Amino acid sequence: MSELVTVILAAGKGTRMKSALPKVLHRIGGKSMVEHVVDAANFAGARQNIVVVGFGAERVQNELTGRADFALQEKQLGTGHAVMQTESLLKDFNGTVMVLCGDTPLLQGELLAKLYAEHRAVNAAATVLTAVMPDPSGYGRVIRNTAGEVHKIVEQKDASAGELAVREINTGIYCFESQLLFEALKQINCANAQGEYYLTDVIGVLVQKQAKIWAVTAENYHDTMGINSRLQLAQAEKIIRQRKNMSLMEQGVTIMDPDSTFIDESVKVAQDTVIYPFTWLEGRTVIGSGCVIGPNTRIQNTKIGRDVTLHFVYAHDCEIGDGVTVGPYVHLRPNTKLDNGVKIGNFVEVKNSNIGENSKIPHLSYIGDTDMGARVNIGSGTITVNYDGKDKHRTTIEDGAFVGCNSNLVAPVTIGQDSYVAAGSTITKDVPPAALGVGRARQANIEEWVNKKKIKEKGE
Ligand code: UD1
Ligand code: CA
Repeated sequence: MSELVTVILAAGKGTRMKSALPKVLHRIGGKSMVEHVVDAANFAGARQNIVVVGFGAERVQNELTGRADFALQEKQLGTGHAVMQTESLLKDFNGTVMVLCGDTPLLQGELLAKLYAEHRAVNAAATVLTAVMPDPSGYGRVIRNTAGEVHKIVEQKDASAGELAVREINTGIYCFESQLLFEALKQINCANAQGEYYLTDVIGVLVQKQAKIWAVTAENYHDTMGINSRLQLAQAEKIIRQRKNMSLMEQGVTIMDPDSTFIDESVKVAQDTVIYPFTWLEGRTVIGSGCVIGPNTRIQNTKIGRDVTLHFVYAHDCEIGDGVTVGPYVHLRPNTKLDNGVKIGNFVEVKNSNIGENSKIPHLSYIGDTDMGARVNIGSGTITVNYDGKDKHRTTIEDGAFVGCNSNLVAPVTIGQDSYVAAGSTITKDVPPAALGVGRARQANIEEWVNKKKIKEKGE
């Protein structure tokens, strides 16, 4: 079993976000910031993640139910104080504690794995993940001795002019040997510019004890960026989107304009699919090969087969087979299943329905709560009347049926196999197989009506 446990600090309010939502629950790339951190921790092999919660504790716990344990920090007295709250959970633990922050969503599992591996390989008491920043302001600075060893970490507000010039910063991510960490935490105090218990002071304490301190420097400082404001949230969002688009392109997906294509990390797209601009692919969406998606298409939690064309479509919680064509201007609502070869044309809405192989709904229809067989043709403007004001009812349309334009199918009702519905019908009774259902008044022509009307008008 892995000897790695993480402590993820997430008790702060995130004042600069100006938000009622705890900072770590703000979403980026389709999931909350803290979820990104938990995923990276799991990749690195953590056997347990302990999240320190405070502001909005309940909401953070709900978000991570089953994926983490929690320690409550009632008052936010500093990062050192936050880690102290996990002591009772870790008192029998002898392995490595990796401390992370909940607001660093760009972290990648590979970097954490590397940090842990080096920490173990050199047998350090503590290993700090550092980064060299073009502009280090706001961060704690990593102060090394003449031999290049980490001597201490000093916060911006406590730093001398010389220390402020250092561009190597503390990312706030560390590995500690558990027992040494909790011993050292007992020796820190809050005699500093912010009156807080700084976790960073643990490094100084361990140096005093001549314990081995190691540092790993992140190659790309973006990866450890902490999000404090909406501006940084947007900047990080962009980076996460770029990463996803890049990895899909490497796997053989064409993305015509990556700057206007928004794909969640969780989405899978197979080779030789082409994605047009202004397309959002979200949640548990999976797309097969050879598809053409977009432009202006939003797909959520939908499984799509091969060689599918979706053109100006909004689809959520659906399933789409192979060779299906949808759009433009189509809304596919939850629990819609389109079998292979289905064609859905312009201005159509389909909800909670099964549409059988090679059936066509080419124009201006609402199909809801319907079970449709194969090779059905639905004429333009057809509506399933599924709601009586109180309950929803289902419509069944069997294989090969042909429904004429502008029909109303009043559910519950069955249109039998190979039957016809006359255009303009309002169908309230089942149509038997191979029958013609006509549900409209017979046309009558009144001869000379216009002339009679004119005579009448003159007479008045
Ligand atoms: C901290 C580090 C700094 C480092 C920076 C990296 C200290 C003293 N300083 O500074 O060296 O460069 O991170 O981003 O550790 N938190 C709690 N409880 C608290 C205080 C903070 O849970 O009482 C959490 C916050 O919610 C946040 C994280 O700890 O997720 C970091 O806290 P923050 O106040 O942002 O630390 P910095 O001042 O940025
Ligand atoms: Ca702070």
